[in-house]
Amino acid sequence: MEKKTAVVVGALGVIGRYIVDRLASLPDWQVIGLSRRQGVDRERVRYISVDLLDAHETRHRLIELGDTTHVFYSAFQASGTQAADYARGTDINRDMLVNSVSAIERAAPGLQRVVLVTGTKYYGSHLGPFRTPAKETDPRHMPPDFYFDQIDWLTAQQAGKPWSWAELRPQTLCGFAPGTAMSIIPVIAVYAAISKELGLPLRFPGKPGAYRSIYQVTESTHIANAALWAATEPRAANQAYNITNGDYFRWANLWPRIAEVFEMPYADPQTISLVGHMADKAPLWDAMVRKHGLKPHRYQDVVAWPFGDYVFGCDWDVMTSTTKARQHGFHDVVDSEEMLVRLLRQFRSEKIVP
Ligand SMILES: NC(=O)c1ccc[n+]([C@@H]2O[C@H](COP(=O)([O-])OP(=O)(O)OC[C@H]3O[C@@H](n4cnc5c(N)ncnc54)[C@H](OP(=O)(O)O)[C@@H]3O)[C@@H](O)[C@H]2O)c1
Repeated sequence: MEKKTAVVVGALGVIGRYIVDRLASLPDWQVIGLSRRQGVDRERVRYISVDLLDAHETRHRLIELGDTTHVFYSAFQASGTQAADYARGTDINRDMLVNSVSAIERAAPGLQRVVLVTGTKYYGSHLGPFRTPAKETDPRHMPPDFYFDQIDWLTAQQAGKPWSWAELRPQTLCGFAPGTAMSIIPVIAVYAAISKELGLPLRFPGKPGAYRSIYQVTESTHIANAALWAATEPRAANQAYNITNGDYFRWANLWPRIAEVFEMPYADPQTISLVGHMADKAPLWDAMVRKHGLKPHRYQDVVAWPFGDYVFGCDWDVMTSTTKARQHGFHDVVDSEEMLVRLLRQFRSEKIVP
């Protein structure tokens, strides 16, 4: 069995954590995780704390990674206060990629593939209606978009080298990573739990059009499987793929089911700003943590309300085609409605929310 060494860049995020877990479950992978926070080492997994925006420190710390065969790049830094604007954070998000991949490439002569995680914002899904279902060959939207800077740099850097890249474009991750700016499951779970605590019915808080539009998501475990596939599939060399669960849904069909999970009544949607209306609920959350014996996550770590306003404000169809990934050999699919119910139940049973 050929031994492989992966560097997961952004290893504590809502994508990186799951890539680390997936690779660590396989006997032929050694995993090194990079982030500013220090992760907890375990069998076949070692973490390095490094600020990727410091080029000098990054080069110095990563010089020891000479055995690297694969890089999984899923680091991200939010900029601005509105999640729809995150794509504008070009300098920092390009620099973290440049600093980490250059340092690893310099140290590791056996590098085989760099898997870069970008997203559906490539198509301008955050700007308003776009051509659906979007295909990998669709033209870019008007920049700025840090994905363009990342892809252009990586493509130029790879030219003529023995390693190759693969780019994955997911949509609205469903997993749990305390401190992440972008994950919808904690938004739904904490919003529902607080509504219930206040004796309110569950109401969809987004725009009426978002309630009825087509939407799609990517489970974190699913993109981890896709990343593993993209790292080792010969056909994926220098290719981009949309990676979603592979199905579509409307929030209108899901919210009554979410109310069932939380054993609370359901009522018609009422549009609010989650950022505005949930800002004063930290003391209530702390009281709920004590009252229900929850895991002691700080309010600001457990949930990111700007992302909720962004997702539930998309009153247009958000839909990409996953045909290319399937044609190239990635056949996994996830039933998004069942996934949502399953993950919310898990949030309750694991005492993240009551
Ligand atoms: N989440 C989504 O719903 C979603 C949807 C579509 C596409 N995407 C894309 O997926 C990519 C990854 O996003 P994500 O949501 O997984 O991000 P995330 O959960 O916020 O994770 C980001 C990771 O990067 C690390 N990081 C940030 N700044 C760093 C720095 N200066 N030095 C070292 N590590 C740093 C963070 O750890 P520390 O804070 O400890 O440094 C964390 O491990 C992004 O390109 C994003 O646009 C995400």
